[in-house]
Amino acid sequence: MSGKAEPVERCMDSYEYIFQKDILRNKVAFITGGGSGICFTIAEVFMRHGCDTVILGRKMDRLQLSAQTLQQATGRRCLPVQMDVRQPKMVLEAVDAALKEFGRIDYLINGAAGNFLCPLETMSFNAFKTVMEIDTLGTFNVSKAIFDKYMKANGGVIINITATLHFRGTSLQTHVGAAKAAIEAMTRHMAVEWGQNGIRVMCVAPGPIEDTEGMRRLGGAGMSSEMKEMFKKNIPVQRSGRRVDIADICLFILSRGGQLLTGTTVIGDGGAWLTEDNSSMRMSMIKAML
Ligand code: NAP
Ligand code: COA
Repeated sequence: MSGKAEPVERCMDSYEYIFQKDILRNKVAFITGGGSGICFTIAEVFMRHGCDTVILGRKMDRLQLSAQTLQQATGRRCLPVQMDVRQPKMVLEAVDAALKEFGRIDYLINGAAGNFLCPLETMSFNAFKTVMEIDTLGTFNVSKAIFDKYMKANGGVIINITATLHFRGTSLQTHVGAAKAAIEAMTRHMAVEWGQNGIRVMCVAPGPIEDTEGMRRLGGAGMSSEMKEMFKKNIPVQRSGRRVDIADICLFILSRGGQLLTGTTVIGDGGAWLTEDNSSMRMSMIKAML
């Protein structure tokens, strides 16, 4: 891991409502990875619609700061809980803490993930295993704990944050592509088995999202402004995604409009995966920068 200071999360200066403001009033969302990035903004948008949240990750300092920021901006409650999604005991304790505080968990967002660019030829056994454990096992661990302790009897919606990397075998991303593909498969199984419990299970697959750790790690940090412009021009909608785009997609899935959605993936990338360069030339360029 790099020794750089973590960016401090900020809420949006303004938010344009698409849905009624109270659409999630008095609901509770459990959001892994909610202390930063895309999932921080998912927490913000849910809270702006009346939801209380539990945000979870390994770094308690950042979680506490993010929870304060979210509460101040939205007036809703946010409980920060330290948890490693790879540790079932911690996961079970975190679910208990959430239920003790709020008495319910209506929505689960599985957003905790790890990523780095790495060619297969230099990837260690442990590097591959680590990402599989955070992304795939983590998603299973948290979903199963919340099913057992709450959703089995009460229903709910689970949204797994995946990616588009496995659609085309994106170079230098085997570990993450394999992990996210497994999550998409698991999503379909869970949707089938848990549908009768009133649970819908979905994936949202973001493409490149501005102002995120994921984008920084996958080459965004090293791009000149000209390269960024070219990158955007190559995306069918002519721009990269914003965190709020992904949050709004999640909100739609929870809304009345999304009630028939389960066991499938909403791709939030403006068509980027169709046109993104995945050539050996690109791979050589990135490998040279690593
Ligand atoms: P991010 O801010 O780094 O989010 C990842 C979060 O996961 C962090 O809050 C981190 O918190 C948490 N986390 C990591 N390992 C964990 C563990 N073992 N246990 C508990 N929490 C853990 O990155 P992001 O770019 O916003 O990514 C969010 C999600 O979107 C991820 O699922 C990612 O794969 C997906 N995605 C992002 C992009 C993009 O362009 N950014 C594109 C496609 C998909 P701690 O460090 O405190 O644990
Ligand atoms: N390239 C190649 N291998 C790497 C790597 C990189 N950039 N970063 C880590 N690894 C390897 C390590 O060398 C180690 O393998 P080894 O024991 O064979 O040496 C293995 O991955 C685990 O690394 P470690 O740092 O112990 O894991 P961790 O559990 O502390 O952290 C990470 C998990 C590596 C995914 C870390 O980057 C992280 O915490 N990421 C969260 C934030 C994030 O990735 N956000 C973007 C989401 S899209």
